[in-house]
Amino acid sequence: MRAVVLYGTGGPEVLKVEDRPEPHRQDGEVLVRVEAVAVPFYETQLRAGLLPASSEATVFGHEAAGIVIEADDETLVGRRVVTMSFTGGAYAEVVAASQYTVVPDGVTAEQAVVAAVPAAVALALFRTANVIEGETVLAEAASGAIGGYVTRLAKARGARVVATAGGGKSVPDADVVLDHNDPEWRKDVPEGVHVVFESIGGARAAELATKLAPRGRILAYGLLSGEFPAYPVASLVARGLTLIGFGGPDAYGRDVAAAREEALDLVADGTLTPVIDRTYPLDEAAAAHERVESREGVGKVVLVP
Ligand SMILES: NC(=O)c1ccc[n+]([C@@H]2O[C@H](COP(=O)([O-])OP(=O)(O)OC[C@H]3O[C@@H](n4cnc5c(N)ncnc54)[C@H](OP(=O)(O)O)[C@@H]3O)[C@@H](O)[C@H]2O)c1
Repeated sequence: MRAVVLYGTGGPEVLKVEDRPEPHRQDGEVLVRVEAVAVPFYETQLRAGLLPASSEATVFGHEAAGIVIEADDETLVGRRVVTMSFTGGAYAEVVAASQYTVVPDGVTAEQAVVAAVPAAVALALFRTANVIEGETVLAEAASGAIGGYVTRLAKARGARVVATAGGGKSVPDADVVLDHNDPEWRKDVPEGVHVVFESIGGARAAELATKLAPRGRILAYGLLSGEFPAYPVASLVARGLTLIGFGGPDAYGRDVAAAREEALDLVADGTLTPVIDRTYPLDEAAAAHERVESREGVGKVVLVP
């Protein structure tokens, strides 16, 4: 099968297209003929060595959707599923996965793969934050998938949303949009924010501590800047703020996995709208990474084998 293998870390050129043997399915796994693969931003950080990646030359990629060709449960064969794997393998024509969710009728493979993980992360974050009507929420990087879905969910709950996006991109549903490419953007965040959905991180995240209402919550789930957010413990204590870390295998295996089915149902009923920037053939994975890193598009980039 055709597959994209990561050789070390570096620029997009470390992604090499090769012929590889098809994977074998273990008990509990489904074997899937891949129709679409998502290219989320964190994969460009893994490839570049900004996040820890496998040092072996492995098939890259984590989120795929396609048709089941083998499974313990034969009724799954022929069904469309979306798969998630921590150990890679998604940039390929065939993937074996233990984590999968059946895609509802009427949802395409491209829609499913760009929504399943980020919308499930957004739902899980949203539940953890327990946003209530009338609160003010800061949704960072709302031009991206998770931030965009968080914005939608917060609006539907009756919250006021201050969102950030790069270079004048619009964020449907946001009440205020700030340009996170302006290094001073945090100065324009209104006082009294109840919940920060923190995905940018970095030293300057500390400036937000003074913008939070007493007893405000910070949901730290990403490091788009390449650094974890440096919220000062002194501010957390003095203002009674709660900092909640959300991520890693525990959050994925439990909260995110539990929310995937509902996330896809919300796509099927039109509550959440997946946004696709561009699709590329699998062989052009390097160009797809360049596109994601350019940050010129809106929505997810998708590979099609
Ligand atoms: N904790 C978890 O369980 C979990 C799970 C999945 C993902 N994540 C993390 O969540 C974050 C968002 O993921 P996603 O899937 O929503 O991303 P995505 O759809 O791939 O979109 C990328 C977003 O990142 C923004 N961005 C990139 N570099 C940035 C920077 N230096 N400063 C500010 N914004 C920047 C882009 O904004 P513009 O192009 O508009 O500037 C865009 O909004 C990532 O950090 C990812 O690693 C966490």
